[in-house]
Amino acid sequence: MKENFWKRLPRPIFSLAPMEDVSDTSFRQLVMEISDPAFFHVIFTEFTSTDGLCHPVGCKNVISRLLVNDTEREVLKNKGFKIVAQIWGADPEKFYQATKLICTEMQFDGIDINMGCPVKKIVKQGGCSALIGRPALAKEIIQATKEASDLPVSIKTRTGTKKHDTENWIGALLENDPAAIILHARTQKDMSDVPADWREIKKAVSVRDQMKKDIPVLGNGDVISVEDALVKCAEAAADGVMIGRGIFHNPWFFNHPQPEVSIDDKLVLLWRHVSLFSQTWEAERNFAILKRFFKIYTTAFKGAAHLRAALMETHNANEVRAVLDDFEKWRRREEKT
Ligand SMILES: Cc1cc2nc3c(=O)[nH]c(=O)nc-3n(C[C@H](O)[C@H](O)[C@H](O)COP(=O)(O)O)c2cc1C
Repeated sequence: MKENFWKRLPRPIFSLAPMEDVSDTSFRQLVMEISDPAFFHVIFTEFTSTDGLCHPVGCKNVISRLLVNDTEREVLKNKGFKIVAQIWGADPEKFYQATKLICTEMQFDGIDINMGCPVKKIVKQGGCSALIGRPALAKEIIQATKEASDLPVSIKTRTGTKKHDTENWIGALLENDPAAIILHARTQKDMSDVPADWREIKKAVSVRDQMKKDIPVLGNGDVISVEDALVKCAEAAADGVMIGRGIFHNPWFFNHPQPEVSIDDKLVLLWRHVSLFSQTWEAERNFAILKRFFKIYTTAFKGAAHLRAALMETHNANEVRAVLDDFEKWRRREEKT
């Protein structure tokens, strides 16, 4: 059994959430490069289907979700961040096989089981948040994953299905001694539509303490800054936080105090993201995925809205470069007037 890194990370632990079509190898690399290791520790892949990984043909469609570029690997090594592969499914045998594949062919520091995604087409397949309230199946899945793996196995979940059932559900999960629990403070029904209720994180921590388990509990939901994370963690007595959409408002999130970020910093990061994404995926991933990010990099400066609108019309990296060059020329003319 490899060392359970969760136990020796500094508190509070800061992590970036698994996010489909967001936390691919290119975005992860960029975020890590601009983050302070004092305020950032663990990064997750996008969720990856165990059925897909075990399928002789389907495997090649999903395995890219677990890709770690050589350049990302360098940053992980140099800055000491941990990377966790997130998997989902409903069949313990598939968890066993998928985990074996991950452990023998890839270099991750941990495995995370998704027991939280509320999306209907996923829930219908019996995986993710469909496991909430099904402790017997959850137990089999956790055990199969642990058996196949010498890596720490964590669980990311929600507080219940229709209403919060934190004590029962987290109590049942803790019985299986996961390496960590990341609790999104919303129910399956809540999706992301209502504010996260951090009182539920505090309840989960209390259950953990009552059960006398040495298992870190991280809270997730609506954390908007490092300061906010510190307050929420202290109030809930949580071991750490996971940041999701907060990164869309600020890619420099994981720094304290926040650095001064210039227009050039934002545009250089935008271009690096576009080039890294395009080199990594070529035709394998749709260029349109990048459009969600254009807004992240083009806020709070003169001409930002105009630049963003032009970027939204682009179809490839060359077109983005041309739009950025035009914007540069416009900026220089503006500076002279
Ligand atoms: C675009 C997007 C993709 C997501 N994909 C995943 C995923 O692959 N696995 C997962 O466990 N959660 C996923 N989530 C949920 C986030 O990990 C996180 O739990 C949620 O956004 C709540 O945190 P926040 O309020 O800080 O955003 C996703 C969320 C978003 C917005």
